[in-house]
Amino acid sequence: MRKPFVAGNWKMNKTVEQASLLVADLLPGLQAIQKIERVLCPPFPSLMVISQMIAGTDIGLGAQNMHWEESGAFTGEVAPAMVKEFCDYVIVGHSERRQFFAETDQTVNAKVKAALKMGLTPIVCVGETITENEAGRTAEIVQREVLEGLKDLSSEDAVKLVIAYEPIWAIGTGKAATSQQAEDIIGKIVRGSLADRFGSESAEQIRILYGGSVKGSNAAEFFGMPDIDGALVGGASLKADEFIQICQAAQGSIK
Ligand code: 13P
Repeated sequence: MRKPFVAGNWKMNKTVEQASLLVADLLPGLQAIQKIERVLCPPFPSLMVISQMIAGTDIGLGAQNMHWEESGAFTGEVAPAMVKEFCDYVIVGHSERRQFFAETDQTVNAKVKAALKMGLTPIVCVGETITENEAGRTAEIVQREVLEGLKDLSSEDAVKLVIAYEPIWAIGTGKAATSQQAEDIIGKIVRGSLADRFGSESAEQIRILYGGSVKGSNAAEFFGMPDIDGALVGGASLKADEFIQICQAAQGSIK
């Protein structure tokens, strides 16, 4: 059985002080939820403080990005070992990184490999733009991002990672995909590509999330779908009550 997974991607929001206040608000509610992997992904400067605040709980911590090299002359970048000091997870290939910071399937692949080597769980993001969607290219784009992003991985490595399908037109727009649209892409295209590449037994073990305007009021619908194992949450993860409500919906979806 795949354990439900809910991660909050705070993006470039919250100073250390603000982040500490949010975590203090989140802690009681998140600790009351069981059987769900709950992960917070704040900006880098808050990782140390939050790791101390959540120590001794089973709440996970993730970075939003990292470089694939071990160290060196890469001004402004953060290495896998630096992420691992505080985190067990790292978001890789978010569409905002692909769009604004020129990330490609090749750099995503390098980061996925570096994360796995460091013992981090990569949360690999894939998804199509509105133009690609309207041109009927969703399946092609998503399949390419999955297969290229996970290139050269063994099945043993593939089962360790988490994939997030985030249609770009649904991110931050308040216009989520329907649960059926998300299920179709996640089940047929994402899990289907994983099955072709790694075998169906491995594909059945890999958690696949939906992301894009998930909130407390629509989360349960997504979690009710057979292939959707959780959510990668942006805006709603900045509000304690919303994020807790989403995690509660994930808990309620356990059969
Ligand atoms: P929103 O939940 O704000 O639409 O963002 C989704 C996202 O990009 C999470 O990574």
